[in-house]
Amino acid sequence: MPTTVRAVRLHEFGLPQVMRLESVELPPPAAGEARVRHTAIGFNFIDVYQRRGTYPLPVGTGLGHEAAGVVEAIGDGVTDVAVGDRVAYMNAGLGAYAEGRNIPVDKLVKLPDAISDEQAAAVIFKGMTAQYLVRHTYAVKPGDTVLVHAAAGGVGQILSGWAKALGARVIGTAGSAAKCEIARAVGCDVAIDYSHGDWVKQVRDATDGRGVNVVYDAVGKDTFLGSLDCAQTFGMVVLYGGASGPAPAIEPELLNKKGCLYLTRPSVFPHNADATRFRANAKDLFDAIAAGHVKVQIGARFPLADVARAHEAAEGRATTGAILLLP
Ligand SMILES: NC(=O)c1ccc[n+]([C@@H]2O[C@H](COP(=O)([O-])OP(=O)(O)OC[C@H]3O[C@@H](n4cnc5c(N)ncnc54)[C@H](OP(=O)(O)O)[C@@H]3O)[C@@H](O)[C@H]2O)c1
Repeated sequence: MPTTVRAVRLHEFGLPQVMRLESVELPPPAAGEARVRHTAIGFNFIDVYQRRGTYPLPVGTGLGHEAAGVVEAIGDGVTDVAVGDRVAYMNAGLGAYAEGRNIPVDKLVKLPDAISDEQAAAVIFKGMTAQYLVRHTYAVKPGDTVLVHAAAGGVGQILSGWAKALGARVIGTAGSAAKCEIARAVGCDVAIDYSHGDWVKQVRDATDGRGVNVVYDAVGKDTFLGSLDCAQTFGMVVLYGGASGPAPAIEPELLNKKGCLYLTRPSVFPHNADATRFRANAKDLFDAIAAGHVKVQIGARFPLADVARAHEAAEGRATTGAILLLP
């Protein structure tokens, strides 16, 4: 039987007000799918890029990548999950901003009892991002010094805490003194307010002039060139987003001049493209939460109908930790 759910739809790109909450018909789950009733939906900054049209999409699309909820029905041939299972997902295409949807089961992970639905919606995208950044892109090890930009933000908090738990010395940047306090609370040994002053010099001073092993930079436009000056010789700069705008183009030769640096621009999606890797990475994340290495801080909750306010808060740099939308 078709079911009607409320879902956010995007018919044009632009300001937060372009997002429309509409009723859509949900058909019964097809073979290999499960219908998931969402209990908590995670906001991610990529949702802003996509709403603005910075990352182009066809219009008439849904929005949102991550949610947690309960399986309400399954299609033919589904054995991985059963009705009543608590699940989460982060790589099933756009459409998480909704009361529910049908999802291919290979995109779902079952939630352990120790992880609440809200925690799962807060970390299944942001925590999986931190997971590949500290495990795969640059495997953080004891003795490393790590620079995390926007360390009080959603990904930033998880990344800082996890890098610290892996034995690194963590330098975090954030946009205010209050956010620097949060960065310190989640594991940063040094927190620098990069909204004023010479933050590059402060990072270099904090490393006795050597620079850091790895820079995790998702601020982009405002920080990228400075990040190249913070990495030590043979260090790595990981550009994984552009909250302030896209990073400027550079000549490859600049990496030589800055100390034979390694530069990469990774994404969470290929790291979790198949079910086996996705579920193994999710287990690593859930284990890190259970061990206390990753703390889940929910900074704000908005009703799904107030999605525009959630985007305004995030774009206005008014939030810390994860933002949830509640259906
Ligand atoms: N490549 C990937 O796989 C991947 C996956 C997930 C997320 N990301 C990226 O990771 C970053 C963090 O994502 P998130 O969802 O956790 O968001 P978030 O960190 O909670 O929010 C972004 C933060 O960026 C900082 N920022 C600096 N300049 C800004 C500006 N001009 N406008 C808005 N924010 C600015 C703000 O912190 P301060 O005020 O402290 O500066 C803000 O809180 C985003 O860039 C996102 O695209 C990448």
